[in-house]
Amino acid sequence: MQRACKIAPSILAADFTRLGEEIRRVEQAGADLIHFDVMDGHFVPNLSIGVPVLAAVRTITKLPLDAHLMIEEPERYLEAFVKAGANLISVHAEVCGDITAIARRMRELGIRASVAINPETDPGRVIAAAAHLDMILVMSVHPGFGGQGFIPESLEKLRTIRLELERRGLNLDLEVDGGIKVDNVAMAADAGANVFVSGSGIFGHGDYKETIARMRAAAASA
Ligand code: DX5
Ligand code: ZN
Repeated sequence: MQRACKIAPSILAADFTRLGEEIRRVEQAGADLIHFDVMDGHFVPNLSIGVPVLAAVRTITKLPLDAHLMIEEPERYLEAFVKAGANLISVHAEVCGDITAIARRMRELGIRASVAINPETDPGRVIAAAAHLDMILVMSVHPGFGGQGFIPESLEKLRTIRLELERRGLNLDLEVDGGIKVDNVAMAADAGANVFVSGSGIFGHGDYKETIARMRAAAASA
């Protein structure tokens, strides 16, 4: 099945003193989405950025904003993120009682609905709700920090999810997040991912255009 490859720079690794300029640079370099990591210090042992920063980012880019909510009780904050300009929101399965209900709510709010799973989470509940989702996000590191190493077992999980989706005739986006670099994009694409989040793998290199082009070429070669 043919599906678009999308590169989503994670601004957690950007230089926050020049955030606007960093986002313009990745946009000009060919990014497809801006990945926006929200952490609450409870679901993950770290704090990051939230609604006011997303609203500011909305004013300086036309790219879709891909908000990854690593927070407890995500349903309390959906509307605020949508009003601020998020186009796609991932909530974590580990903190959602009813995945179908929250996915429906996201779609009612007019955005694309996604559910994320941690490395140790079984994908069964998310696959069961897949007909109500636009994307599934597979964490390939333990969430909370940028710059960690890719967990190789994530490849098997991506493969299982993609096969299950195909078996059900569903062509969702499958996003992989954590430790993605030019040299492992092909493996993740081969396993079924088509949306690639990369923080340090993009912002850690001087030439964003070349890095994004190399990631896209690697995904296409898989
Ligand atoms: C981790 C975040 C990731 C992170 C990716 O908790 O969800 O999006 O910023 O950063 P890298 O690509 O450096 O692993
Ligand atoms: Zn993320």
